[in-house]
Amino acid sequence: MSDTKNNDSFTLTDNRSGQEYVLPVIKSAIGPDVMDVRKLYAETDHFTYDPGFTSTGSCESKITYIDGDQGILLYRGYPIEQLAEHSDFPEVCYLLLYGELPTPEQKKKFNHDITYHSMLHEQLMYFFRGFRRDAHPMAVMCGVVGALSAFYHDSTDITDPKHRMIASYRLVSKMPTIAAMAYKFSIGQPYIYPRNDLSFAENFLYMMYATPCEEYRVNPILAKAMDKILILHADHEQNASTSTVRLAGSSGANPFACISAGIASLWGPAHGGANEAVLNMLEEIEHPDNIPAFIERAKDKDDPFRLMGFGHRVYKNFDPRAKILQQSCHEVLDELGITNEPLLDIAMELERIALEDDYFIEKKLYPNVDFYSGIIYRAMGIPTSMFTVLFAMARTVGWVAQWNEMIEDPSQKIGRPRQLYTGETERKFKPVHKRR
Ligand code: CMC
Repeated sequence: MSDTKNNDSFTLTDNRSGQEYVLPVIKSAIGPDVMDVRKLYAETDHFTYDPGFTSTGSCESKITYIDGDQGILLYRGYPIEQLAEHSDFPEVCYLLLYGELPTPEQKKKFNHDITYHSMLHEQLMYFFRGFRRDAHPMAVMCGVVGALSAFYHDSTDITDPKHRMIASYRLVSKMPTIAAMAYKFSIGQPYIYPRNDLSFAENFLYMMYATPCEEYRVNPILAKAMDKILILHADHEQNASTSTVRLAGSSGANPFACISAGIASLWGPAHGGANEAVLNMLEEIEHPDNIPAFIERAKDKDDPFRLMGFGHRVYKNFDPRAKILQQSCHEVLDELGITNEPLLDIAMELERIALEDDYFIEKKLYPNVDFYSGIIYRAMGIPTSMFTVLFAMARTVGWVAQWNEMIEDPSQKIGRPRQLYTGETERKFKPVHKRR
């Protein structure tokens, strides 16, 4: 088959029969237009084949725009740099959920509403006890978030917009409480209840680090860095976990179950698990003298090793989030007076070498957001196993915004990709005594 482009459509020619098929083009607001292949199978008896969906748009969305070549990331049209500099995480949540920045009154009400949803049903605490103490906190997150649907029946009617919004608020607000409890459980300390007088980021740090034994004051520089990290991770278009949430939700599953599916997808080291993998890799490297050997391994086609925190499916020049966090990272290290932390020295040296190395330059592999967030978390004293949990906490608002958008889309259908079958053709069953 061959294709030719005209202004508003593509014409696909079947080279065997000479038959032509017209594929309409749908215009995007910015970025590449899309070929509409919805009628392709009915008309041509062929599917498209696109493992990893590198050329496939799965939905229409008004939430986030990425230009990977230019390193542009917009939430509802606002550049990520401006939001990171001038906004705060709850305001960004409002923007993602409602499409506009809030007025002062809307901001006040939203802050109040998400603050007052941060407590967990007391019985949910017992749920934590069912896990082994050494359970990975992401395993705990998948379980506890999935279990929310068993506790909040009054917000699982997905056809009711009010239910959908209450479930969305609950998910965004309760995620830090669940995350901090997963941590406290793993270290055997008592759970710390949320405090309504603190900001979203402050409250999370407070629930992580306070104990009932003494007063705990949240460091404002760390709270600011945490707030920035939350903003930068809040949404990222149709990545693996967001697509998982949409696919799970397309069958009509309740939002708590869908977000739990998203958390499971985020856990993988090629996605949100990369920030944890970065630190594990730095520990494995152990000393800057060992970096060249690891760089060689990353380049070796026969070695599955990859430099964690480098490369991105979409950003092929730089990751704008990484640029912002690079600066934050240095601010945090200065504030905490960290000048001699071997792992951070390795990270900085690795960054320098990889940015100058021909292999990484040629393949457009730059440090991504997970590289710097991992280093900041490490400097803040957050245990490695919690890194992806923090990503999940920030991404929850993106997931719920995308889920809401999907449910409200009149053209929404259950997601059901097709396949290229390469297995056995039909054959006759052989009784066991005839098999050799
Ligand atoms: N180290 C060494 N080589 C790499 C790396 C890396 N981190 N990433 C890609 N490559 C090479 C890869 O071997 C391939 O080489 P070749 O063309 O010779 O076969 C080429 O670059 C293209 O790689 P790809 O796997 O086809 O690219 P992709 O777009 O499918 O993968 C990625 C993107 C992020 C999965 C990948 O770069 C990677 O595994 N990076 C490390 C994990 C990581 O940091 N993930 C976090 C992503 S950012 C947070 C998020 O959005 O979740």
